[in-house]
Amino acid sequence: MLKKIMLGIAVVVLLAGVVHLIAQERNDEPRLSEGRDEPAARQTPRPRPSDGLGRQRRGMRPGQGRPMPGRAGASSIESSPLPKTEAEKKILNILDDMDRNQRRGMMNVPIEDGRLLRLLTETVGAKHVVEIGTSNGYSGIWFCLALRKTDGRLTTYEIDARRASLARENFKRAGVDKLVTLIEGDAHEEVTKLKDPIDVVFIDADKEGYVDYLNKLLPLVRPGGLILAHNISMRGGRGSGIQNYVKAVTANPDLETIFYGQGGGISVTLKKR
Ligand SMILES: C[S@@+](CC[C@H](N)C(=O)[O-])C[C@H]1O[C@@H](n2cnc3c(N)ncnc32)[C@H](O)[C@@H]1O
Repeated sequence: MLKKIMLGIAVVVLLAGVVHLIAQERNDEPRLSEGRDEPAARQTPRPRPSDGLGRQRRGMRPGQGRPMPGRAGASSIESSPLPKTEAEKKILNILDDMDRNQRRGMMNVPIEDGRLLRLLTETVGAKHVVEIGTSNGYSGIWFCLALRKTDGRLTTYEIDARRASLARENFKRAGVDKLVTLIEGDAHEEVTKLKDPIDVVFIDADKEGYVDYLNKLLPLVRPGGLILAHNISMRGGRGSGIQNYVKAVTANPDLETIFYGQGGGISVTLKKR
């Protein structure tokens, strides 16, 4: 009998220890400034930028004005974008269609990131946006929502011929094709041909290439312009490409960078005047 009681106590103590360890682990997520890699086994499931799940979980649709249910913090009071004009409604409907039917394999930004790209672009009155990583044109169309208003244009780069062709179709059916120059090829080489000043850069392609894109494009960014980069995890990690990029934009006194953790994680860097 005494043996059984002792065994019972030992099991309870062991379980309490395990629970304590798990609780500690959760509170010990590495921060961006620590620059530590997040081991795969410790990755916390969260809406990924590219899998479309974010949208499905949140039930948010462009153009429908529905609240975004079940989200913590500021997100719980967000609602879907409301079109002001018929033209805007048409574009939001195309984005909705792409969101529902084309996400698979396209690695598109989530809706909230698309909204941020549009908002920042319109706010700085961008005349020229450069995007690295067009995919099927989803984020590009969010940029175009702003560029219609700022009388600006988008130059976007895509290495994959199939995605580039789909993007051309999508730009056309959204009625924004005249605002877009899509350059098919390796952006590392192609961007060196750019000569015009840039107001907004959006980097969303090969992660190891982020610093190279930054180095090549920064001289063309006008003072007061923005450099945005996608998939900048707030937990550090995600490989040395992203870590080196974070170092590059935070160690340069010409730049001021903040990290926007909602959605897929975007760094917003101002080139100071
Ligand atoms: C994450 S996806 C871009 C998603 C897109 N920004 C959106 O939200 O709709 C990255 C894209 O970059 C492209 N890419 C990767 N390396 C590239 C390179 N060196 N030059 C041009 N495009 C590249 C990939 O083919 C892929 O379509």
